[in-house]
Amino acid sequence: MSLQNNKVVVVGAGLMGTGIAHAFAASGFATTLVDSNGQALEKAQQGIYKILDDGVKLGKVEAAAAEAAKLRLSIQTDLTAAAAGAQLLVETVSENLAVKKVVLAQAAAEMADGAIYATNTSALSVTEIATAVARPENVVGMHFFNPVHKMKLVELVRGLATSDETVATTRAYCDAITKQSIVVSESPGLTTSRMSALAGNEAMWMLQEGTATAEDIDTALRLGFNHPMGPLELGDLTGWDTRLAVLKYLHQTLGDKFRPCPLIIKMVAAGRYGRKTGQGVYKYENGQRVPGSGMKGSAL
Ligand SMILES: NC(=O)c1ccc[n+]([C@@H]2O[C@H](COP(=O)([O-])OP(=O)(O)OC[C@H]3O[C@@H](n4cnc5c(N)ncnc54)[C@H](O)[C@@H]3O)[C@@H](O)[C@H]2O)c1
Repeated sequence: MSLQNNKVVVVGAGLMGTGIAHAFAASGFATTLVDSNGQALEKAQQGIYKILDDGVKLGKVEAAAAEAAKLRLSIQTDLTAAAAGAQLLVETVSENLAVKKVVLAQAAAEMADGAIYATNTSALSVTEIATAVARPENVVGMHFFNPVHKMKLVELVRGLATSDETVATTRAYCDAITKQSIVVSESPGLTTSRMSALAGNEAMWMLQEGTATAEDIDTALRLGFNHPMGPLELGDLTGWDTRLAVLKYLHQTLGDKFRPCPLIIKMVAAGRYGRKTGQGVYKYENGQRVPGSGMKGSAL
């Protein structure tokens, strides 16, 4: 039986669940999106329809394929009903260990034998989440990137009990939804958050030391390394408050090279989180960056 005949349940209809449910429905899977909040479900369904309709307008998706994808998608507030007989669960509810464990336990009681339970957690332990079910070898991390319909990568996270078979089948699901997967042993920050935190922190150290202006540091990485965005503009987009929380965690777990730059601590104390507060390393007006507004260095 091909994977495409399998029934997929995506739990959590927020930012990530919307994109993940779209990816499976558009790739031929009967997909049920579940959320305890009916309004979130309606919004997610509209969001998925919009991604499909935009794809048609841009000539990337055939109109008939978009309509078929819409028909393959259903929404449901009752997890027990949605999980009955499903072969793959992708859990992407809020980043809370207790909530994630309850979702897995509840779904596992209804799902098919040998079903895979994947979690999209950004930072929680897959090993710990796996203790919620009787078959922890079937639990794997499936870490997608935002926006899911544009980002090709999925980091598969192997917990202590995750079996080779589970990793292989989950990779096959990634292939089926045209995502490129990599496999990472459970560790703080996986590969992406760990690298990104280090680069953003180092860029801030350079800014603090007055090595170069913010604009020049970002230009260096964009034009010198072909990065689509510099580390400081990316930090403004992610939010330096989030960045600081990640750095503190990595510092605690992986050691001194992740010690947060004092300039980040100072900016967070001042409420300069980035785009969302109108000021970070750069200033923003009406959502647009103010030209020439980057910090000039020697900021301490
Ligand atoms: N936002 C990102 O860029 C990103 C990237 C990768 C991974 N993640 C991870 O993905 C997960 C979801 O993140 P998000 O940004 O989509 O969050 P979100 O807040 O946008 O959505 C979470 C959804 O989960 C629902 N929910 C909460 N408890 C539930 C329950 N018990 N049953 C059913 N639904 C429930 C909420 O109603 C909400 O709609 C988190 O674990 C996060 O760490 C996020």
